Amino acid sequence: MKSLCVVLAAFSLLGGALAQSGAVLYQQNCAFCHGEKGLGRTGAFPPLVEHAPTLVQNNEGRSYVAQLLLYGLQGELVVKGQRYNGVMAPFSHLKDEELAAILNYVLTAWGNDKLLPQGFKPFTAADFTPLRSTRLTPAQVMAQRIRLGLR
Ligand code: HEC
Repeated sequence: MKSLCVVLAAFSLLGGALAQSGAVLYQQNCAFCHGEKGLGRTGAFPPLVEHAPTLVQNNEGRSYVAQLLLYGLQGELVVKGQRYNGVMAPFSHLKDEELAAILNYVLTAWGNDKLLPQGFKPFTAADFTPLRSTRLTPAQVMAQRIRLGLR
């Protein structure tokens, strides 16, 4: 009986961890547009495969991507030679830990891990918390992207 309780406790812990995991949160919040496998939809939603890691090659890029999740993105951009001019809504209603988990999933899934810079440090809540006060519009996030010359 005692061992059964231990097993049940382990299962419920595992269930909690899975619900919080980046993979699950990605499927719930992002896959609708960017696709289950991050392929996006040509001309409508940019792919995250082979693209997301190119945005986090330095600290300014990391901060840009964190703000993109907090505040959304609006305006024209070119990803892998394809033009996009849409709007991505903000995800500031998610917790900092959840945003970090989603981003770490996107940056390591589908072979993206091979494109991360040397010594890449996974995102944590601390990457998001200080940026909550900047309160940018989606267009201001795009202005940052242009300033950083991200492609
Ligand atoms: C309702 C559709 C939609 C959802 C849901 C969505 N996005 Fe986006 N995303 C977009 C669009 C549209 C763009 C391009 C915006 C533009 O054209 O200005 C974009 C752009 C991006 C980019 C590329 C930014 C760049 O600078 O190249 C990343 C990374 C991204 N989204 C991640 C996410 C993540 C992670 C989630 C889930 C938390 C998510 N998106 C949810 C529509 C969406």
